[in-house]
Amino acid sequence: MCGIIGYIGDRRAQDVLIKGLSRLEYRGYDSAGIVTLKDNKLCLVKKQGKLRALIEELKNNPLEGTLGIGHTRWATHGVPSDTNAHPHLDCSGKIAVVHNGIIENYLELKKALSKKGHKFVSETDTEIIAHLIEKFYKGDIEEAVLKAVKLLKGSYAIAVIHKNEPDKLVGARCDSPLIIGLGKSENFLASDVPAVLDYTDTVIYLENHEVIGLTKDSIRIRDLSGRVIRKKPTKIKWDIAQAEKGGYDHFMLKEIFEQAHILKNILEERLNNSGIVFEELKIKTSDLRRVKRIAIVACGTAYHAGLTGKYMLEEYAGLPSWVDTSSEFRYRNPIVDKDTLVVIVSQSGETADSLAALREARKRGSKVLGICNVLGSSIAREADGVIYTHAGPEIAVASTKAYTAQLAILYLFTLYLAGIRKTVSPGKLGLLIREFKKMPALMGELLDEYKSEYNILAAYAQEFKRYYLQKHNKSCFLYLARNINYPNALEGALKLKEISYLSAEGYPAGEMKHGPIALIDENPWVVCIVTRSKTYDKMLSNIQEVKARGGIVIAITTEGDKTILHYNINYLIEIPKTEELFSPLLVVIPLQLLAYYVAREFGCDIDQPRNLAKSVTVE
Ligand code: G6P
Repeated sequence: MCGIIGYIGDRRAQDVLIKGLSRLEYRGYDSAGIVTLKDNKLCLVKKQGKLRALIEELKNNPLEGTLGIGHTRWATHGVPSDTNAHPHLDCSGKIAVVHNGIIENYLELKKALSKKGHKFVSETDTEIIAHLIEKFYKGDIEEAVLKAVKLLKGSYAIAVIHKNEPDKLVGARCDSPLIIGLGKSENFLASDVPAVLDYTDTVIYLENHEVIGLTKDSIRIRDLSGRVIRKKPTKIKWDIAQAEKGGYDHFMLKEIFEQAHILKNILEERLNNSGIVFEELKIKTSDLRRVKRIAIVACGTAYHAGLTGKYMLEEYAGLPSWVDTSSEFRYRNPIVDKDTLVVIVSQSGETADSLAALREARKRGSKVLGICNVLGSSIAREADGVIYTHAGPEIAVASTKAYTAQLAILYLFTLYLAGIRKTVSPGKLGLLIREFKKMPALMGELLDEYKSEYNILAAYAQEFKRYYLQKHNKSCFLYLARNINYPNALEGALKLKEISYLSAEGYPAGEMKHGPIALIDENPWVVCIVTRSKTYDKMLSNIQEVKARGGIVIAITTEGDKTILHYNINYLIEIPKTEELFSPLLVVIPLQLLAYYVAREFGCDIDQPRNLAKSVTVE
């Protein structure tokens, strides 16, 4: 939610800021702005709309200067508009601020500042930060920021510059991510690593309540009492090509096609002769052996990965497991204690509700394991232990490769627990691992079928659009599945609604008769996951029920399944044969691609769907 960037060095700041914002646009894209400092003057340009609107504006009015800050916005306080776009200035026009987060006491502060004569021009909470810094400014911007942030309640990552201090870029964070990028005679501040990767692979992850003063040759990190903190830089292994489209039309498509490779890397990294290894997992084996139950807590797609994890953990690790969305968990009275392992699944590691759930669980005495993609993210740092998914930067807002990487880690973690808790015999465990090792090749084979522009999923999407228009836009999607693929039904529906804005629901097929069946006439397209499994026959009955009411069925089946051919299926999608346990890794591929092609048919903005943001750092 909102991306911020700051630059100090010898390059033209505008270029660095715009490039950085283009890598942060996944965090919000309803307006963008930058300010640079040149000849003792702040030069500000901000624009409602996507970053390209700002870029257009800058073409006629380029900004010079080698110090600057920038922002890409996902509106919370105040509609998307030029005025509400960041950076925001104080009354004197000397201080500029960009902000990611929410200032919860902004009304109170605004009132107090207004009484002292401060004038506000926007509806944002951010603007009060600029005025608060102005209030404390006595010739040293770093000191003023340090004093101002002490009064803020809520979450913030900010970057600040002052017109009279051309050698200073200042930042601070609390509950919103912020990193320093370290360069030679230049330094950066950013919400996320990809924003600086073009210039440096060395970063420092900042913690809550830290205030940062950067010059082009020095960094100083202090806590709120002003004490200097020393921190070790981290070398980033991601390479910038991972944050680029690499010839694909969209990041989402590129990320879908990366999945087999990522899965292969995960297995190579985590499996060696001694078994399953989680080097970074700090939770002791003895503690994991003692666990009596598992609570998995997550949001969005990560929640669906968690739901699949429940099936795995119960079946193979013999542990009672339940799954909660973070926003529900944190406001309930969740019964978790020292015997419960709480697993927080999060691609970004920054989702506000998931972070709050983590803190709640730790308060209640549970050990918390984070399954995260972003190195050094808040959840990864605050959890007792972390397992990284190492899927590389995921840029498309709709998550795909992070999902399969989360599934892969959940499989490995389940098998690891099964091993140390001896809930599965060594022979069976070996067999499962051998099967798992086949998955990257099977996934690669499946993805290859969809490499051509004219694959069957693209064709089905075209048919759907024709049908939809014929039916005067009345059509919608229903996704049905059972057991370990039920979460994939939810995920398939989520992907479709996120990027095509069509109505789509996922349901456990057994629940169909308790409601969704009422939706079925000739309008909905019903995606049925009917791969070989112990619930195969039940799914066939559900398909008959859908067909009997005129529904259009897309069936995802196992290669070579002859039985399904007798069911008068409208559209068939085959996946390679595998163990039922691992089938979700394959089933989700056509679901992701179907959503992609439908959205493309409808001309939607696939990588940046309306109203969504990739990293939801507000509640
Ligand atoms: C947002 C994103 C989803 C993501 C969810 C959870 O809604 O658009 O793609 O699944 O947040 O994010 P996390 O980073 O915690 O996995």
